[in-house]
Amino acid sequence: MNFHVLTLFPEMILQGMNTSITGRAIAKGLLSLEAVNIRDFAFNKHQKVDDYPYGGGAGMLMQAEPVYLAYASIAERIGKKPRVVYLTPQGKVFNQEMARELALEEDLVFLCGHYEGIDERVLEEIVTDQVSIGDYVLTGGELPAMVMMDSISRMVPGVLNNQESGETESFAGNLLEYPQYSRPEEWHGKKVPEVLLSGHHENVAKWRREQSILRTLKNRPDLLKKADLTNKEWNYVRQLKKQWKEEEESL
Ligand code: ADE
Repeated sequence: MNFHVLTLFPEMILQGMNTSITGRAIAKGLLSLEAVNIRDFAFNKHQKVDDYPYGGGAGMLMQAEPVYLAYASIAERIGKKPRVVYLTPQGKVFNQEMARELALEEDLVFLCGHYEGIDERVLEEIVTDQVSIGDYVLTGGELPAMVMMDSISRMVPGVLNNQESGETESFAGNLLEYPQYSRPEEWHGKKVPEVLLSGHHENVAKWRREQSILRTLKNRPDLLKKADLTNKEWNYVRQLKKQWKEEEESL
């Protein structure tokens, strides 16, 4: 996977990504990363990249030409028109399925906006995917690009080792992950659930599955609707809901 980031703050991208698991994957050659400074493509006296919006309004806009030239330098070098992700709160909301799908690409370009956004004409010309990382507004696209690259990297073969990969992580089958415990057996008066100490693999698996369902029902009922549960498990969900309703009514 080759990541190319169009940004006004290349050092932010390089610092963030060359750390921890993504840093290790870059060092191993499983990922490559370049941060292209859009300002290097502003061929005017003060290397200016922004200007006032036509029609008035607050703030400045990034101009089309430097963004286009920075993009074109990448497209020319790699010899194809790559997929270009523009980070914007107006985009489609990012999720695990999108991460899995984007991880299949050989090259991905991320376009990070600043100020009040980017001239629409260059977006129309180069952007293939508009993506938001959630319903809140950030000061620029760099953090969202890093969030996306981090989760896409995890899907690239070899980036996670066996210990890190874990089949049963959150969102697998639209369920959240179960709670986990390590030593000591008792901490601040809280004991590790007995079943986990039992060594009985079947009971452990059953308990974990129930905890996943419970957690998803509590925190993300929207996800649970899409989960693949057995009839018995759907009965368990109904039973939990009934129990909570009764508890609420008795207050
Ligand atoms: N730029 C500013 N806010 C953003 C968000 N929530 N997602 C993606 N890009 C953004």
